[in-house]
Amino acid sequence: MTGPILSLRGVSKSFPQGGLLDRLLGRDSRLVALDDVSLDVMRGDVVGIVGESGSGKSTLAGLAVGLARPTSGEVLLDGQSMAVLMRDHAGPWRRRVQMVFQDSSSALNPRKSVERCLGETLALRGVPRAQRDSEIADLLTLVGLGPEIGPRLPHELSGGQRQRIGLARALAMKPEVLIADEPVSALDVSLQAQVINLLSRLTRELGLTLLFISHDLALVRTLCSRIVVMRKGTIVEQGPCLDVLGRPQHPYTQALIAAVPKGLAGRRTPLPVRADAAVPETREDIHGAA
Ligand SMILES: Nc1ncnc2c1ncn2[C@@H]1O[C@H](COP(=O)(O)OP(=O)(O)O)[C@@H](O)[C@H]1O
Ligand SMILES: [Mg+2]
Repeated sequence: MTGPILSLRGVSKSFPQGGLLDRLLGRDSRLVALDDVSLDVMRGDVVGIVGESGSGKSTLAGLAVGLARPTSGEVLLDGQSMAVLMRDHAGPWRRRVQMVFQDSSSALNPRKSVERCLGETLALRGVPRAQRDSEIADLLTLVGLGPEIGPRLPHELSGGQRQRIGLARALAMKPEVLIADEPVSALDVSLQAQVINLLSRLTRELGLTLLFISHDLALVRTLCSRIVVMRKGTIVEQGPCLDVLGRPQHPYTQALIAAVPKGLAGRRTPLPVRADAAVPETREDIHGAA
């Protein structure tokens, strides 16, 4: 198939606003979180979605992963309507599009060990019990963790390790599309670089399509081939990352770039430009915070 793997066609999403009294009095107002958004994501694309807080990035992610339904418009996976897929095969859609959240600790059950969490996810995918241990070991290796992590509980992991487990759990479903919503925003800069490198490597090795949501333009420039700039629920500009960031056409994109304190190239910890550069490990990341 040569069509887009993920499409949004004229998608809007609004939320009821105001209290019960407003609604009873018929003063029904709605907040438009996404306003007639159309977007095509091709297989293998690594797309950065940027925009200030409240611009609708997470709402878009929720629709793409099937956690929410659009108020109007259509979301398509590989040309098939999500509304139909969710009605007839909610399972497959959920498997094919997976999400990594900003803070995996809220997405991980605090009482379940890493291996149990991953094991349950593999069970959902239908992996027979006898194969699960070896797949868990493979998943841990894939995200750069050792087998000693398996028995640990989420609170026994560092922030960087938790994000890797969040990623491993998403990958356990063998998704085609991965949506990462601010996946490194809660990490310090050196750990951010590691998780970004990991995402970059996995995207290429597994042939994943990645939607990387971030307000950090420098990270997006490092990781992504395309960029989508959102403002107040609409897409104001999109295109190849280097073009849009190098020659922004929309005043809002220009303002976002101008607002990066040290400029797009001036991070404290430079990120390797080559996506397959060695992934550095720190003691904190390997052994967990003391
Ligand atoms: N479940 C919800 N109920 C009501 N309003 C929401 C809900 N989710 C998001 N919003 C509103 O929609 C707008 C877009 O939010 P969001 O998609 O989270 O933006 P971003 O991720 O870019 O910060 C915001 O004004 C937010 O308050
Ligand atoms: Mg958000």
